Amino acid sequence: MEKTQKYESIYKVIDSLCEGEPDLVARMANATSVLAEELGHFWTGFYRVCGEQLVLGPFNGPVACTRISKGKGVCGCAWAQDRTLVVPNVHEFPGHIACSSLSNSEIVVPIRHRGQMIAEIDIDSREFGTFDETDEFWLDRIASVLGSNVDPGLKDYIRGEILPRYASFDPAHRLDHVQSVIASSLVYAGHYDVDENMCYAVAAYHDTGLAFGREQHHTESARIIREDARLREWFSEEQIALMADAAEDHRASGGREPRSIYGKIVAEADRQIDGETIIRRTVQYGLGHYPELDREGNWQRTLEHLGKKYADGGYLRLWIPFGPNAARLEAFRDIIRNHPDRLRAMFEQAYDSLVQA
Ligand SMILES: [Fe+2]
Ligand SMILES: [Fe+2]
Repeated sequence: MEKTQKYESIYKVIDSLCEGEPDLVARMANATSVLAEELGHFWTGFYRVCGEQLVLGPFNGPVACTRISKGKGVCGCAWAQDRTLVVPNVHEFPGHIACSSLSNSEIVVPIRHRGQMIAEIDIDSREFGTFDETDEFWLDRIASVLGSNVDPGLKDYIRGEILPRYASFDPAHRLDHVQSVIASSLVYAGHYDVDENMCYAVAAYHDTGLAFGREQHHTESARIIREDARLREWFSEEQIALMADAAEDHRASGGREPRSIYGKIVAEADRQIDGETIIRRTVQYGLGHYPELDREGNWQRTLEHLGKKYADGGYLRLWIPFGPNAARLEAFRDIIRNHPDRLRAMFEQAYDSLVQA
């Protein structure tokens, strides 16, 4: 938990340091300082994509390789494969470039802009196995802030006029929810050639319709976007129409596919695939709808539901086939496939806490 809280505050600080400063090197320089200061790893820094090579950027720690070719070492592999690499033991990584024998584990996270990788975050640790899903999740978000450039005026307006509306909604849809949807939307946006301002605004408005009740909140959110005169300062009528449709499509219930990439981004950012939450909701539903079932009956029902929806070949569809939800779904599938004891323990915990409540 401590790590998550640390990252939450690092994310906020880097977000505000980037605001109004579009230069990537300046952003990376300050981000290095914050990440090194707060996390205290052995080496913290950046490589920029320059033509056919990665070139060393701002960093904190001992001297490092200045240029890395595509496919070479952990950094070059992350570039070639266009994905985050978490390496628990760098000495076992094929073709590892040993800049220092003191480094034992490493994480490399791509920074993307409009679908292109433009740089990488690279962090090395003295310990083995330092980095996990929490680092990956938050460094991905931090990378999306470094790689994107949301208009500061638009951000100001949304922070002042739109986000405060969430304070009056139910606990599951307060400020932390909309902030998380904004942050995830920017992560997904980096994978596509899309307008970041539009993604930011759609995420910020997506649940504003809750002011008129839950049932039609998605269509109300769309109406609020269409009727917002201030949004015309940043967007054309066409863009506003596209954003309104995207907000409406965030509630992708019934499995209907969002009409545009903007709808897919917000719908994906709005859901969090998390094994514990999924099991808890499944048990909750079973207890509410099948009161005749005992513990064993609920377990069987849970297994059946997970098999149909989440296991390999299940009907759940991700709107975006990579990024945080894809990684989480794969991790959950691995539990369903290979760790029945862990799955049962997750069920027992959910069942006990719900029956006691
Ligand atoms: Fe919603
Ligand atoms: Fe939402």
